[in-house]
Amino acid sequence: KADGNTNPIIHKATVSAPTNIACIKYWGKADSHYNTPINDSLSLTLDQSDLRAVTSASASLAFDKDRLWLNGSEEVGAASSRRFRACVDGVRALATEKIDPDTKEVIVSKDDWKKMHVYIASYNTFPTAAGLASSAAGYAALVAALVELFGAKESYPGEFTAIARQGSGSACRSLYGGFVAWRAGGEKSDWSDSIAEQVADEAHWGEVRAVICVVSDAKKETSSTAGMSTSVATSELLAFRAKEVVSKRMKIIEEAIKAKDFEAFGKVTMMDSNQFHATCLDTYPPIFYMNDVSRSIVQLVHRYNDWAGEIRAAYTFDAGPNAVLYTLDKHVIELLALVLKYYPCESEDLMGDYVNNKDMVSKALAFELDSGLLQALEKSCNIRDIGDVKMVYCTKGGPGPQKMLAAKTGERS
Ligand code: DP6
Repeated sequence: KADGNTNPIIHKATVSAPTNIACIKYWGKADSHYNTPINDSLSLTLDQSDLRAVTSASASLAFDKDRLWLNGSEEVGAASSRRFRACVDGVRALATEKIDPDTKEVIVSKDDWKKMHVYIASYNTFPTAAGLASSAAGYAALVAALVELFGAKESYPGEFTAIARQGSGSACRSLYGGFVAWRAGGEKSDWSDSIAEQVADEAHWGEVRAVICVVSDAKKETSSTAGMSTSVATSELLAFRAKEVVSKRMKIIEEAIKAKDFEAFGKVTMMDSNQFHATCLDTYPPIFYMNDVSRSIVQLVHRYNDWAGEIRAAYTFDAGPNAVLYTLDKHVIELLALVLKYYPCESEDLMGDYVNNKDMVSKALAFELDSGLLQALEKSCNIRDIGDVKMVYCTKGGPGPQKMLAAKTGERS
């Protein structure tokens, strides 16, 4: 029970949220205020056991301003940023009153929420050196934690995703598990139709695996926000892609996912990654996200698929040099064995730090790669230097945000 303003209740909720990796890429904003895209996109939400953002959101009359901590350090001034405000104010506008489950008394009315400030503490398990995008998971965790805290209710399906996309576009897709599409929208003047939608949940095609090769990158990358703004302003290829190409690819990939057709899924995923990076090259001045190591991975995957006579692995690259390789459960050990051969770890002792999954490493090390495959690769692929790939994550699709603690009251400030 609260004892007035001297020692008010702190209301709190903690949520973890996943990242997602797009197969059909979002690149380019139609409206920078609403942060809406020039084309639809589609991604797979990744399992949260290795990569996740965890956010606690608290609200209290005891707090005199909104504050934000990231990985333990306060981000001074960040609570007034447009992205952060859009998420906090957007979810708070959908708050419902909080009722005591025992006494049925109203503990917090809708108006009371408006009088409280929020403290947000977030951490992520993305190794900073890895350069893996964590903003999607971060903003998805922020929105999901606020939804729990305020008991927010959507006034139309997908409204929370419309809020999350104002934090970071790709974050809207992390509010659902499995395969998720972000519909560009634009029919409605307030862009309330620019929302994410689940195409298939994580159980539908549970055989899909992702092998993430973290590629070292000494250079500082161009941020997605800045890069896509230059691309929209200068790349005719990007305009053509948004107008003519993406809707066809969305149809192909959604059908492939429904039919669990990896051949079609993999091909369109690789082609779309290539086209996205082509639009970066077509940007003036050009943007280079992929490097020599990234390109060597592209070549290895194509040679592997050529040898197999089918698509067994499909690469995709975001705004950086890291490769995400999609494959199926039945080929993942073979693929990991290939990755470990061509992108070697310094020693077997360090393998535990190099690959996140010990069980898969032992299977991959014991796996005998086909001699015909090795012969075919010998002609065109070189074993790279130690350190060209810093780390390998083996993961799979997973669910959307998870509640970690029930929102609780009664904590004293
Ligand atoms: C290449 O979502 O990070 O990963 O909306 O400006 O925050 P902002 O951009 P962001 O861009 C992601 C771009 C991408 C492709 C994708 O995830 O679809």
